[in-house]
Amino acid sequence: MKRIAVLTSGGDAPGMNAAIRAVVRTGLAAGLEVYGVRNGYAGLINGEMERMTARDVGGIIQQAGTMLRSARSREFREEEGRRKAIRKLAERGIDGLVVIGGNGTQTGNYELSKMGFPVVGVASTIDNDLYGTDMSIGVDTALNTVLEAIDRIKATASSHTRAFLVEVMGRDSGYLALTAGITGGAEAVIIPEVEVDPDSVARELLDAYARGKSHAILVVAEGAKLNAASLVKYFQENHAKIGFELRVTVLGHVQRGGTPTAFDRMLGTRLGAAAVDALLAGEHGVLVGWVNNRPQLTPLSEVAGRTRRADPQLYELARVLAR
Ligand code: F6P
Repeated sequence: MKRIAVLTSGGDAPGMNAAIRAVVRTGLAAGLEVYGVRNGYAGLINGEMERMTARDVGGIIQQAGTMLRSARSREFREEEGRRKAIRKLAERGIDGLVVIGGNGTQTGNYELSKMGFPVVGVASTIDNDLYGTDMSIGVDTALNTVLEAIDRIKATASSHTRAFLVEVMGRDSGYLALTAGITGGAEAVIIPEVEVDPDSVARELLDAYARGKSHAILVVAEGAKLNAASLVKYFQENHAKIGFELRVTVLGHVQRGGTPTAFDRMLGTRLGAAAVDALLAGEHGVLVGWVNNRPQLTPLSEVAGRTRRADPQLYELARVLAR
């Protein structure tokens, strides 16, 4: 292997830059030429790639986002799009590709590997819903961003005896909501993995009010059937008695920015370096994830198209702790 390329795809995540930096610098240290592909798979199809030097990745480890930029590409989902991508890689003589991203990205990566191109994936998504890793790049920073918001909301909520629905990201997984709920001391957590009855949520709120709580925080995952908007609608239409005055805060893309934590910088660095090692060792068609405190390779065939669910035991713990 002489020449490799790296790209980021799907939702950006804090720590992606640390991973890009590690791929570039460990690649160069191993005597490889390293190319950076702009704009994810869409850029790959268009041949948007440039050779990178160690200086090109200077001063980025502390920055959120991705210096290579990202995109969600429809064309890459079609075989013809992927063929174009492989042609562009061949034109540049690239013989290995590192793909940094989450679920959709690694499913696309698996398709590329099935077409015979040597690829390695790096686990990165704030949703933490990828198989083959305990933690993905960006989760820790996003969680800390959510926590800071919850701490602030609690102060104002307590001053007014209010309940807040705090909606956090997580399209298919409640990991972020659940861990934020536990570590932020929330009164309730609503996640896609567990169906809840809106009347029982109202009863819990009223009960918390009657017990003399000065506030109630409900952390709701955006992907839950009962998300913040539908819960508010239900309460209004059914004149639900909850005791507290109700307010809603949707954190949205704020969660994707934020200075990467030390954990995410280290995780990005370790996974990026391990991805280059894997390519050099001839380990292709794998995801580099973080398992038992070290990088671990899992075949993309076991990762693609699957969603790792939040731990049901943690859900029970969140309920117990909310008393
Ligand atoms: O997958 C990461 C994520 O942030 C999800 O939590 C969220 O549902 C989605 O991306 C938002 O996507 P976009 O940035 O394209 O709006």
